[in-house]
Amino acid sequence: MEDNRKEQLIELAEQKMRDNRVQLESDPYRLKYHVMPPVGLLNDPNGLIYYRGHYHLFYQWNPFATKHGTKFWAHCISNDLIDWCFEEIALTPSEWFDRNGCYSGSAIEYEGKMVLFYTGNVKNSNGNRETYQCVAISEDGRKFHKKGPVIYLPEGFTAHFRDPKVFRRNNRFYMVIGAQDINKYGCCVMFVSNNLEQWSYQGVLAGSMRNGLDDYGYMWECPDLFTIDGRDILLVCPQGMDPKENAFQNKYQSGYFIGKMDYEKTVFHTESFIELDRGFDFYAPQTMVDAKGRRLLFAWMGMTDEREALHPTIAHDWVHAMTIPRELFLSGEKLCQRPVAELQNLRSNLVKYHDLIVKDETRDFPDVYGKVLELLISDIMLDSQTRFCLDFRGHAQLVYDTNEQRLILKRMSLLDRVVEKRSCNVEELHKLQIFMDTSSLEIFVNGGEEVFTARIFPEQANETITFSTSGNARFDLQKWDLANGTA
Ligand code: FRU
Repeated sequence: MEDNRKEQLIELAEQKMRDNRVQLESDPYRLKYHVMPPVGLLNDPNGLIYYRGHYHLFYQWNPFATKHGTKFWAHCISNDLIDWCFEEIALTPSEWFDRNGCYSGSAIEYEGKMVLFYTGNVKNSNGNRETYQCVAISEDGRKFHKKGPVIYLPEGFTAHFRDPKVFRRNNRFYMVIGAQDINKYGCCVMFVSNNLEQWSYQGVLAGSMRNGLDDYGYMWECPDLFTIDGRDILLVCPQGMDPKENAFQNKYQSGYFIGKMDYEKTVFHTESFIELDRGFDFYAPQTMVDAKGRRLLFAWMGMTDEREALHPTIAHDWVHAMTIPRELFLSGEKLCQRPVAELQNLRSNLVKYHDLIVKDETRDFPDVYGKVLELLISDIMLDSQTRFCLDFRGHAQLVYDTNEQRLILKRMSLLDRVVEKRSCNVEELHKLQIFMDTSSLEIFVNGGEEVFTARIFPEQANETITFSTSGNARFDLQKWDLANGTA
């Protein structure tokens, strides 16, 4: 019976994909080196794992509409993090415990098998939410067999309890889950297991209005907990935080706490929360460690807000994409991100300028234009009282002001065609590495100390990149075209 339901759902989803093939080809905003859905809506990256020599990336997927709904897990495999092959659908919402969505989760290797943990989302006959933390196992990393729930909702929490991230530490398995407590505060809870089947509840390791933290919202989604250079890092996505100066301008937040995880007492000692990205479209990041020992991150290059229903790609029956893969590293107290080295394989047609000067003027440079490219602007030297501005295709601008020591990304809003902004403080600007795709920008500042991620939807005819200053700027410039990667 259940198998029938699964087959039916797979058949329907595959039909949708087939039907949409031609539509996609005519979409000028289809990206060239990002993972995108073949039809429907993509959101969170799930189940990131390096397994038997391949990278696996799953994602939240609604194949039937360009809005949120009953989610599937789509599945992609890659050898190099660049070219992704769309595989057989991994999870469908076919069972009583996940019938309203196979929500976010993670993957781990155990005894040679790939084990997925995800949240079974259910709306019961009273219209109330139920949540089950479920398991699916694969012998080959391609076909998955559901084993059903292993964790039921503990007392003290609402049914907003989801997104299990599992990891191994000292031969035990730990799971962190995003939750809302009965006082309607967001938090992160921990479970422990010796065999991935029996799990025991350990408690809340951090949360809004707990252990010295003040109000960090009403719900925490998509937690991830790991160590870099001996420092523990907790990624979470708090919902319901108020904007504060430059910070927390998006509808939902995504950031990290640095501190010390006390596994005996189940307490994460920490103070401050820092946003992982300063742009408009970045949410639900997940990390993994690969065979080279790198801590890699993917995030959903999107956001659940009023804009998502206005993306022009909806006319071609798809919406949202994944960020490029990034490698995490620590610099002092800051968690930084650099594009993975493999992305250099996309480069071609280098254009290189040394010691450019832009003084109280607007200008462009021969062969520095396009839609799908990488820009590296290095050794930036700005005189005091200088305003340095980069314009992308007449649609988005990056502005640095030496007086304010603030970097601002502006773009034309989909909401009302006015300009909207995101910004952060940058003491000194010396380097920018910019990945531009047909409808996205990912800007790495000063070697990844800050990142701005945004979708942009410029006019097709406009391929210009201009530099302007009031004051004086000096820099080196390199530009590459980026060739096709990905699924
Ligand atoms: C985050 C999220 C998760 C949930 C999933 C559902 O974007 O809301 O908490 O598991 O999306 O698609």
